[in-house]
This record gives sequence, C-alpha cells and structure tokens, in this order.
Amino acid sequence: MEGPADLVDPYGRTVRDLRISITDRCNFRCTYCMPEEGLQWLPREDVLTYEELARVASICVSWFGVDGIRITGGEPTVRAHLPRLVRMLSGIVVPEASSSPLAGKPIDLALTTNGATLGLLAPELRAAGLQRINISLDTLDRERFRLMTRRDELHRVLDGIDAAIAAGFAPVKLNAVVQRGVNDDEVVALAEFGRDKGVEVRFIEWMPLDAQGSWEGGAVVSQDEIVSAIHAVHPLEQLPARGAAPADRWRYLDGRGTVGVIPSVTKPFCGDCDRVRLTADGQFRTCLFATDEFDLRALLRGGADDGAIAAEIRRAVGTKWAGHRIGDVAFVKPRRSMSQIGG
Ligand code: GTP
Ligand code: 5AD
Ligand code: SF4
Repeated sequence: MEGPADLVDPYGRTVRDLRISITDRCNFRCTYCMPEEGLQWLPREDVLTYEELARVASICVSWFGVDGIRITGGEPTVRAHLPRLVRMLSGIVVPEASSSPLAGKPIDLALTTNGATLGLLAPELRAAGLQRINISLDTLDRERFRLMTRRDELHRVLDGIDAAIAAGFAPVKLNAVVQRGVNDDEVVALAEFGRDKGVEVRFIEWMPLDAQGSWEGGAVVSQDEIVSAIHAVHPLEQLPARGAAPADRWRYLDGRGTVGVIPSVTKPFCGDCDRVRLTADGQFRTCLFATDEFDLRALLRGGADDGAIAAEIRRAVGTKWAGHRIGDVAFVKPRRSMSQIGG
C-alpha cells in the first residue's frame, strides 16, 4: 500500500504536528493573555463537535504524514467530556506505510493545560489514552499568581501537577511565560521547583499575541538572560539541536534534570517549524501568526468528502510563510489572540 503523502510547505518544511484548539474559553484570565472581561466567546454552534475535530485529525494522519496531535485551548479542560475526545484521538493509528517512526502505532497525543482541573481529571485522561501533558506555571507565589491569573488557584495548579505525575504521564513539562518586572525574579526558583519534581521547566519569551494588545518588547526576557540566571546557580550544558520542537534544552551538570527555553522573539525557530493548527471554530492555520485562515468548518458541514478536505489542507499549507516578523516594521499582529487561536 502507498503511504501517506508528505505535506511540504513552500519553504521545504514537512508538516508532522497538528495543534487542535477545542475551545476559546478559559477558567483563568492571565494578564499576558486576555482581559478580565469583554473577550467575545465563540457562539457554541460555531465550535466544532468532537466528531468534526476527530475527522480532521484522522484526515491529517491518514492522508498526510502527521503523527503528533496536541490538544490546546483556551483552556481545553473546561470543555465538557474531554476524556471522550481523548479516547477518539488516541485510537488514531499512524499508517503502517508511513515514514514516521510511529508507523503502525498510535499517534503521539498531548495536552497543554493550565493544570487547575487536573487534580480531578488526570487519571481519567490517562485511562483515555493521553500520553503527555504540558502545564502552565508562571509563579510559585500565591499573591503573584492571583495577580497574574486573576484567580486564587495556585494550590489547584500545584495539586494538578502532582496528579499528572502520579497518573503516569511522561513527560510532564511545565511552561512559564517570563515577563520583566512581573516574574523574572522567579526564574531560578521555578527551575529548582522543576528539579525537585523531576519535570522539565520551559521558560517562554512573551509573544505579541495577547488579546488586549499590551505586549511591548521591553517586557520580553530573552533566552540569554534566562539561561545566564540559571547557569549562575546551577551550571548548565546545552543539549544538541532541537529538531522541530520550539524549545532549546540544557542539562544540569549535576545530573539533576533538564530545562528548556522557547525563544520565539529573540531566536525564532520558524525555519524548523512542522506545525499546523485547527481553531475551535474549524479554521485551519499554518502559523500562530498567520493572517489567513482556511474554513474547514464550512466544508465539514457542507457535506465535503475527505478528499476535498485534504485538498483544502494542502492548499493552505501551500501558503505557509517563512516565519513571523516580530520586531520587524512589517510585523502584522493576527486578528485573533493566542487563546482564540490555540496556544
Ligand atoms: P512539546 O515540545 O511537544 O512538548 O510541545 P510544545 O512545546 O510544542 O507545546 P506547548 O503547547 O507546551 O507550547 C509551549 C509554547 O511554545 C507555547 O506556549 C508557545 O509559546 C510556543 N509555541 C508552540 N508552538 C509554537 C509556534 O508554532 N510558534 C511559536 N512562535 N511558538 C510556539
Ligand atoms: N506569549 C507566549 N506564551 C503565551 N502563552 C499564552 N499567551 C502567551 C503569549 N502571549 C502560553 C501559556 C501556556 C501556553 C498555552 O501558551 O502560558 O503555557
Ligand atoms: Fe487561560 Fe492559558 Fe490564556 Fe491563561 S494563558 S488566560 S490559562 S488561555
């Protein structure tokens, strides 16, 4: 049997990873992401059903070489019956004839979450076939957490991290967006928290994708600054090239784990990008920063067959650009914010 055809963009990058946003809603209001009130949620009827989401996922895996799917939001765990979707997606198998190392095996299925509901949900998600979880944690200080997320729920996130580890997810990773004057004094403490828990912390440079447009370059703490701060206390050695993943990684010379930095602003990794995205309302995007979207919902609900949907995905990937241009005069902020596009 012929294998899936690779989906190659105009710059020669092959698509392997699909990020699916399943809701634009969230139970937090992180200040770097969205305003306290006023963000317009998608009307429920515009949001794809789990069956529609799973259909697009299956097409990407069986027609093209996609072998990894990440569920994102908003906050994905606020959508009802998430384990049902996880069961549907974890049953998708990479075709035997694929060139992927996962040929014949289930796709690599992961979730990005703020962690607040994992205390309850983690075992059920694991049982449903989810393999990996990335949890956001920007501060270890209760009052600062309340200010940053506008919710007094640090304890729930910490419980959620423990629940994810206890449920057997491997790896669990922690994501920390660093902002100057907000939480940059906690880089070492967060790194140490990860070492103690045996999980990798990835520090993220803040990107201009917040709904309220408050981003300014001066608040971005660079990868170099983050690595120097940690290295001064716990010496580090950089690990070999990251491939298509957004994080550069280091190991602690004392052997106690690894740490990563996602340098979207100061060292963009667009040249190695293998990602495409589906928004909760069924729009296909080839980049976080893309200004164009391709309306798969209209096709899904208009009776299109799999071939027609695959053709539209191929057409979209044919428009993928070289990369974002944050910092360039030509930079155009996408119409939708990160919580609406998917993290
Ligand atoms: P794994 O490496 O597979 O664990 O996942 P990931 O790091 O791709 O996923 P996660 O959802 O944890 O993403 C962490 C952060 O990476 C996001 O919050 C973004 O800041 C950044 N990121 C992910 N995808 C992209 C992308 O396509 N472009 C840019 N610029 N940043 C991205
Ligand atoms: N820049 C960088 N990362 C962001 N996140 C949310 N908004 C931004 C932004 N503007 C992160 C969250 C979470 C992931 C889904 O995206 O902290 O880790
Ligand atoms: Fe919610 Fe994530 Fe945005 Fe925070 S960063 S408000 S947890 S979508």
